[in-house]
Amino acid sequence: MFHQQRAELRRWVVSFLSNHKTLFTVLWIVGFASVFIWQRNIVDNLLSFRRAPGRPMPRFRPFSFNISDFGAVGDGDTDNTAAFERAISTIAKLGKKGGGQLNVPPGVWLTCPFNLTSHMTLYLAEDAVILGVDDEKKWPLMPPLPSYGYGREHPGPRYGSLIHGQNLRDVVITGNNGTIDGQGQTWWKKYKRKALNNTRGPLVQIMWSSDIVISDITLRNSPFWTLHPYDCKNVTIRNVTILAPVFEAPNTDGIDPDSCEDMVIEDCYISVGDDGIAIKSGWDQYGIAYGRPSKNILIRNLIVRSMVSAGVSIGSEMSGGVSNVTVENVLVWSSRRAVRIKTAPGRGGYVRHITYRNLTFDEVRVGIVIKTDYNEHPDEGYDPKALPIIEDISFTSIHGQGVRVPVRIHGSEDIPIRNITFRDMSIGISYKKKRIFQCAFVQGRVIGSIFPAPCENLDLYDEMGKLYVPVAAFMPCTEIFAEMQGIVA
Ligand SMILES: *[C@@H]1O[C@H](CO)[C@@H](O)[C@H](O)[C@H]1NC(C)=O
Ligand SMILES: *[C@@H]1O[C@H](CO)[C@@H](O)[C@H](O)[C@H]1NC(C)=O
Ligand SMILES: *[C@@H]1O[C@H](CO)[C@@H](O)[C@H](O)[C@H]1NC(C)=O
Ligand SMILES: *[C@@H]1O[C@H](CO)[C@@H](O)[C@H](O)[C@H]1NC(C)=O
Ligand SMILES: *[C@@H]1O[C@H](CO)[C@@H](O)[C@H](O)[C@H]1NC(C)=O
Ligand SMILES: *[C@@H]1O[C@H](CO)[C@@H](O)[C@H](O)[C@H]1NC(C)=O
Ligand SMILES: *[C@@H]1O[C@H](CO)[C@@H](O)[C@H](O)[C@H]1NC(C)=O
Ligand SMILES: *[C@@H]1O[C@H](CO)[C@@H](O)[C@H](O)[C@H]1NC(C)=O
Ligand SMILES: *[C@@H]1O[C@H](CO)[C@@H](O)[C@H](O)[C@H]1NC(C)=O
Repeated sequence: MFHQQRAELRRWVVSFLSNHKTLFTVLWIVGFASVFIWQRNIVDNLLSFRRAPGRPMPRFRPFSFNISDFGAVGDGDTDNTAAFERAISTIAKLGKKGGGQLNVPPGVWLTCPFNLTSHMTLYLAEDAVILGVDDEKKWPLMPPLPSYGYGREHPGPRYGSLIHGQNLRDVVITGNNGTIDGQGQTWWKKYKRKALNNTRGPLVQIMWSSDIVISDITLRNSPFWTLHPYDCKNVTIRNVTILAPVFEAPNTDGIDPDSCEDMVIEDCYISVGDDGIAIKSGWDQYGIAYGRPSKNILIRNLIVRSMVSAGVSIGSEMSGGVSNVTVENVLVWSSRRAVRIKTAPGRGGYVRHITYRNLTFDEVRVGIVIKTDYNEHPDEGYDPKALPIIEDISFTSIHGQGVRVPVRIHGSEDIPIRNITFRDMSIGISYKKKRIFQCAFVQGRVIGSIFPAPCENLDLYDEMGKLYVPVAAFMPCTEIFAEMQGIVA
């Protein structure tokens, strides 16, 4: 019954359309309708284009302000410090009412350093640039960080950061890929000429704060470390681009989580003149006394480039301890080193429970580096017997190509490296030398298939996790198990 009806309907449609007149009418209506829709789209696009400069920015707070309304001028020349200060002190009064949002529209907004407040959102529109004044006389000096005891480059006070915050809660810096530019060029040159008497300032530094989100912006040309969360809790850094020249931009680390807890760094692109990321927790006796570790840190989905140092580092200042860090889905390309742990006698503290998973190295000189001789100290007051502990570190699914030395792990008699695990590694090498998987004073294991052949002082397990070649722990580098390496490779 149903079938019959459908067949009849089809017959009717066919005969209707085969009538030339009706077919022509139908085509005409379809054609007219599509021209109409097409034109409406054009008009809509034109309208939205005309609306664009004043387009209301997304609103995240009950109160929202425009930096222009505080007298700022985005001409790249006017000093807008007072406007930022007025805007932020207005927002500071709104904390109990949910806080305020400060919009920075397209333009170049020159400013001296300023302080943020709690419950605020700084929103940078597309093509908005907050440009730091590059005259160090206009940068405030602040006391050294307590866990460093030293400016880091010079004793005594250090320059504050361009955008600064301390003892804050609930701060968001976001936008539609607007930029914060530190004009670091002037600072780098003066640093090289030794024309500065104090340590250069970071681009963004948030201290003793919690519930911080930094997302969807670009940070570039920091005078010193770019983004420095210090002794903070609950920090999210997402979808941020960090840029500085890969050479001749000294100490422009991308992100330095320092004595921070509960932190996520994800979906970022970082290409800078020093470490892409460097997790820290204070320096020698000052860091030991301050005693605040960096812990519970998740780093994932990054593309990083570092021609001078490493993609993702831990240390060298790690005296408060670093633990429970996961680094996954990270591509390090065209870099000096991919991942690195660096420390030295005198640091004290520990680096433990570190998980690296799914890393890709593309044209990197040294892939995985652990070294214990980073002998740079704040002053002579450090205790050389304060030995750091390095243990429980695992590398899983590590791949790459064009790597000269895939693994270089140099513990020492004083600082042996314990319980290190390699599982599923295959790194294409660019340099046919014998010892390209180097270890000294290391204890641990390799599981399953590993290329290039692991060094002889790690236990060998098969894919099923069954031990088949145990070795004595903590041997210095030797070649005695050279043939056995062949079994695994
Ligand atoms: C901010 O104010 C300026 C000057 O009044 C105006 O041109 C701009 O469209 C405003 N932007 C927003 C997002 O309100
Ligand atoms: C920001 O606040 C800190 C702490 O109060 C202060 O030392 C620093 O000078 C302030 N920075 C600016 C630019 O006002
Ligand atoms: C990342 O930020 C850009 C603007 O900077 C934005 O267009 C894009 O949607 C963001 N991506 C995600 C996944 O949020
Ligand atoms: C954001 O801007 C930077 C610098 O201009 C650019 O390299 C990056 O691709 C942009 N990101 C997005 C998501 O558009
Ligand atoms: C550094 O100190 C010297 C000697 O006190 C002084 O002449 C010079 O102006 C200072 N430089 C800066 C950038 O403060
Ligand atoms: C962490 O900070 C975010 C952003 O302010 C907030 O939404 C979240 O509730 C905080 N998480 C905890 C556990 O406090
Ligand atoms: C380790 O850190 C992760 C965040 O990366 C967190 O979810 C987890 O609870 C932490 N583990 C411990 C034992 O604190
Ligand atoms: C491994 O990381 C890359 C990014 O480097 C990502 O594209 C890929 O999906 C990740 N693989 C897994 C299994 O998560
Ligand atoms: C070795 O480290 C792994 C994590 O990489 C951990 O699961 C395991 O418990 C550690 N073994 C010992 C004996 O501490």
